[in-house]
Amino acid sequence: MEETVRILFVDDEPSVLNIMERLFLFEDYEILTATSGEEGLRKFEGSPTIHIVISDYRMPEMNGVEFLEEVYKKWPDTVRMIISGYADLDAVVQAINRGHIYKFISKPWNNTEMKVTIATALERYFLRKRNRELTESLLHKNEELRQFNERLEQLVTDRTTALMQTQEQLVQSEKLAAIGILAAGIAHEIKNPLAIITMGTEYMKSVVGDNAMLQEVADRLKQAALRADTIVKGLLSYSRQNPLSFKETDITTLIDETLTFTEHELQRKNIEVIRKYADSLPRVRVDANQIKQVFVNLLMNGIDAMPAGGSFTIRVECSENGAGKKVVQIVYADTGFGILAERIGKIFDPFFTTKDIGNTGLGLSVSKGIIDKHGGTINVESRIEEGTSFFIRLPVV
Ligand SMILES: Nc1ncnc2c1ncn2[C@@H]1O[C@H](COP(=O)(O)OP(=O)(O)OP(=O)(O)O)[C@@H](O)[C@H]1O
Ligand SMILES: [Mg+2]
Repeated sequence: MEETVRILFVDDEPSVLNIMERLFLFEDYEILTATSGEEGLRKFEGSPTIHIVISDYRMPEMNGVEFLEEVYKKWPDTVRMIISGYADLDAVVQAINRGHIYKFISKPWNNTEMKVTIATALERYFLRKRNRELTESLLHKNEELRQFNERLEQLVTDRTTALMQTQEQLVQSEKLAAIGILAAGIAHEIKNPLAIITMGTEYMKSVVGDNAMLQEVADRLKQAALRADTIVKGLLSYSRQNPLSFKETDITTLIDETLTFTEHELQRKNIEVIRKYADSLPRVRVDANQIKQVFVNLLMNGIDAMPAGGSFTIRVECSENGAGKKVVQIVYADTGFGILAERIGKIFDPFFTTKDIGNTGLGLSVSKGIIDKHGGTINVESRIEEGTSFFIRLPVV
């Protein structure tokens, strides 16, 4: 649709306005007129886009420059021109420099020149408009491009992180599998000699009579053999690849069950248990026995970390994982001695332990394996002398 071009003439001499109207009678312009700056401004207010305004300089009240400056403030797109006689030329030229007037036309003007000037001014109007539209769309496109770039960078970062995590998990589970096979082999080899030692010590005890020293040596041998047997059993259970049997379960029931059979130990060590279970928790699909093994491991580790007593806070709440999926989060927070920063990266490694003989250092790596198989995650946070928290997240059914 072609835009109707509007031109406003402002002159206090009605006869001049008349001339203008006649001059453009056969052109395709809509001609508006006003006999003062004030009226000119009213025309601006009451009309759709005015493309060109041509004003006389000398007018009573508001002069041409003042009027056009006002127009510039409110309708900056309109091309502004001023007509003046030679007597006022200096003042007008200054005004052009100061204000934003496109051109001045000197009196008396030549009609053909006037028409050419207006045609050029119109061209300028539409060129500027087009230019501005292009600039705006360019800025807009630039912004889109910037946002797209940002999203792309974020995506690359996310994917890289995910890839690194998967890689890490892969290395960890490969390590576990290799150790599992090795452990099963060794455990089998050791089980029989251990049984022979245990039975041998029984026999020794029965034949040495009341030689107290020999009795004690036999006892110590038996104890050592039993301790070794415990480790071997731990290794075997670790390497056993039992298929999981998943069932929909209320996770707090499992937590309570494990607390029941560690209750005595907790009391003896002066450890208070604080349960904070959220209301109406969603159910999870788990292998109850395996998950209970994880909870017992965490409880035992906490007990070991609080030799002088303390408290265990067990929180269960609904949460979201990194990908925005609903999960049940279980937190075991103890007030124990904490884990040194340089060790925290190793605690999930098989055989990493800071404890005496009798602890295999398999507790957490087995736990992590179980949680992985459930499609969950296990993480740790710790502060020296303040305590350690383990966070388990299990996907919701
Ligand atoms: N709650 C905790 N507070 C302080 N240190 C901890 C805690 N849990 C684990 N650790 C540290 O992590 C190590 C590894 O734990 P993990 O359960 O795997 O093995 P462990 O307890 O040493 O042996 P096991 O579980 O086979 O008896 C522990 O030796 C201990 O140093
Ligand atoms: Mg342990």
